[in-house]
Amino acid sequence: MYLLELGGEDDAFAAREARSAATGVDRIAPGLAVARGIDPERVRGLAYTHRASELLGRGDADLASARAVLEAAAIDRTGSVAVRATDVHGSSDVRTERAERELGQLLVDRGFAVDLEEPDHLLRVVFSEGTVGDEERSTGSDALERVENETAAGEHASVCALGWLAAESVRDFGTRAPTDKPFFQPGSMDPLLARAVANVAGARPGATILDPMCGTGGVLVEAGLVGADVIGTDAQAKMAAGARENLAHFLGTDDPSPTGVSRGSWHVGRGDATRLALVDDAVDGVVFDAPYGRQSKIDTHRLEDLVAGALAEAHRIAPRAVVIADRSWREEARAAGWQLESAFERRVHRSLTRYVMVLERRAGGSDRLGPDRRDALTSGSE
Ligand SMILES: C[S@@+](CC[C@H](N)C(=O)[O-])C[C@H]1O[C@@H](n2cnc3c(N)ncnc32)[C@H](O)[C@@H]1O
Repeated sequence: MYLLELGGEDDAFAAREARSAATGVDRIAPGLAVARGIDPERVRGLAYTHRASELLGRGDADLASARAVLEAAAIDRTGSVAVRATDVHGSSDVRTERAERELGQLLVDRGFAVDLEEPDHLLRVVFSEGTVGDEERSTGSDALERVENETAAGEHASVCALGWLAAESVRDFGTRAPTDKPFFQPGSMDPLLARAVANVAGARPGATILDPMCGTGGVLVEAGLVGADVIGTDAQAKMAAGARENLAHFLGTDDPSPTGVSRGSWHVGRGDATRLALVDDAVDGVVFDAPYGRQSKIDTHRLEDLVAGALAEAHRIAPRAVVIADRSWREEARAAGWQLESAFERRVHRSLTRYVMVLERRAGGSDRLGPDRRDALTSGSE
């Protein structure tokens, strides 16, 4: 079992992204989830999970409880150790420095040497107290793989969890701020959200991800850095040229990416998202960030027709899509044959909320299953 330390302001969305790198993910307290298994290489590429640790045990969010967990734990490790404690959102009132000192002393008493600079093993101790939002309850495809210990939605949680650090995500997103890229346009997606939606769409080595309205190529850059081969199209020649510039800059080298994988291949062309020059089932996942009514110039389509057409094309060429927009296009998605797997609302600023829809092809490809099973489980305040 693993402990996941989530980042960002939306635990439900973070947990959904974590499911691209872990199985049996369940939120147990604000900022915390447990997972049955992890793929360490994929954890390195997550945007909204900071760390995964091999769970040693868990208790209540106080120091006495953390001590009891550590005292009772079997430790089959040798070498030097260090303890790092975190109080998620300052929610538990535990003094983390004192926790590090006392828990470190317990390890010394058990024969371990402490090395704060380069320990062989790092013990993460995380305290968190608060309500686990009832907006989500695992809408992901792992929903049926729940672990026994989950915290019920809306329940107050008081948790300390201890675990040996197993994998950390690479926090280099600041080096790819949209304004610092070779080609920048207003409306470019922030690299954290771009990485997360790429991961949710299935970006990984061996997978092919398409963004049919790629703009500056923000999603494609992030998908390529976790090893996916990427394809982009945009209706505007200027955008297609700019995306090429950005992709050449970030993916056009044989060096492994910061997450340790080979960068994916890339291809960008000018094209209409409603009429793609790709055969059926050509890619593993589609991501697009639909133009916002007031923002992008759309020459040939009404926005409704553009999104409906792009959804239908995506459905023809991929089993999964992630759509980001300034409104929920769920009815259009259903009409195009998609099943809504999960949905999230992310407030960007006061007047802009971004909707993220995760879509899967309906089993059987028809309306046979009737209304979406998971509608009742969608997140956010829809
Ligand atoms: C919101 S922007 C995408 C931003 C992008 N995610 C980024 O990070 O730069 C939407 C893009 O859709 C493109 N677009 C509009 N109509 C299109 C169409 N029919 N086919 C393909 N792209 C289209 C616009 O040129 C614009 O670049």
